[in-house]
Amino acid sequence: MKTIQYLLIAAMLPLAFGCQQEQADGEAGATDTPAATLADAYADHFYVGAALAVEHFTGENERGAALVREQFNTITPENIMKWMHIHPAADSFAFELPDQFVAFGEANDMHLVGHTLVWHSQLAPWVQEVTDSAGMDAVLQDHIGTIVGRYRGRINGWDVVNEALNEDGSLRETIFLNTMGEGYLKRAFDLAAAADPEAELYYNDYNLCQPAKRAGCIEMIKRLQAAGAKIDGVGIQAHFSMNGPSLEEVEKSITEFAALGLKVMLTELDITVLPAPWDVQGADVNRTAEGSDFMNPYAAGLPDSVAVAQAERYEGLFRLLLDHEDVISRVTFWGVDDGHSWKNNWPIPGRTDYTLIFDRNQAPKMAYDSIMMLKRVDP
Ligand code: G3I
Repeated sequence: MKTIQYLLIAAMLPLAFGCQQEQADGEAGATDTPAATLADAYADHFYVGAALAVEHFTGENERGAALVREQFNTITPENIMKWMHIHPAADSFAFELPDQFVAFGEANDMHLVGHTLVWHSQLAPWVQEVTDSAGMDAVLQDHIGTIVGRYRGRINGWDVVNEALNEDGSLRETIFLNTMGEGYLKRAFDLAAAADPEAELYYNDYNLCQPAKRAGCIEMIKRLQAAGAKIDGVGIQAHFSMNGPSLEEVEKSITEFAALGLKVMLTELDITVLPAPWDVQGADVNRTAEGSDFMNPYAAGLPDSVAVAQAERYEGLFRLLLDHEDVISRVTFWGVDDGHSWKNNWPIPGRTDYTLIFDRNQAPKMAYDSIMMLKRVDP
């Protein structure tokens, strides 16, 4: 029954969507009561947004930009604020693209998130050469102070520290931990708070719905809070699959993080429909070969049955988020449409995945409608 419902609505949506596009462009045919967008539908609950690639805010992809303007009210830069891009050499910052990103968000009155200040990955090589605590402290002062200071009062929230934990909940060995010890965490939050006292400051990580990592994260945050760090929220990245994590584990993470007095966000939401190499049983190497039919089963298109299953997974998740809307402040999809999802190239490059709620033609998928329907049923 639900399948038929989704299919009917999905068939009608492009028409409704077309009308809305026309209206956004100010052309004839606008109606007085446009269909609600995602941002409108969830406006009373939490921000809903997307990670943007460069083309979405520079004018290279106007259709993508129009979709972003219409459907979302918060944006995160997918790559351009990572250390290697924004601070490629000790004495040089690259602000051209970040400035354009911020200008795009401001022009559209959006909640802006900065991603990310301190992360062991995508680091500029020169940072790896710092060998002592004082040297690294000076680097963090310059990096965080300069970037957060530049966008003071304009970027609303920062992923201050990203992915500092191992899967067992212990602290990951990084150049920051190795040079400064655990104190680098509090120092990063202190520097960000000093550079923009009004900005929200977050810890962001993946697999935070896995019990061991969640427990380690909670302990780490408690230590930060006990030391007096200003930490406002935790970002559950939410790179999910069709089977995991269970909604029960997601709910535990929401309630346990919220119990620390933090805002909780799903910051990098996507739901892959493809098999993962580590789930494949047996030793048939052909199965894990790049581009094999087994590992890339939907290269020709997404079957309705899978689209429906994904829509149901998204629906269950958003129902849970609405149940906890008092502590959920934001949900950000990691990409704008399926064509842009990083999952097309990870963990196996060159596959065709369908992780998001807009398809490669930027039309809403059943997953989009499942989220919208939820709001129609439970206004
Ligand atoms: O732009 C270049 C292109 O010129 C070049 O030809 C091509 C060849 O590899 O690479 C392109 O750059 C890639 C870039 O994405 C843009 O597509 C990089 O190789 C690739 O490493 C990079 O991946 C990004 C990844 O972080 C690493 O920074 C993904 O787009 C991005 O979605 C992903 O996002 C991370 C979050 O920041 C943190 N949490 C996990 C999440 C997923 O890994």
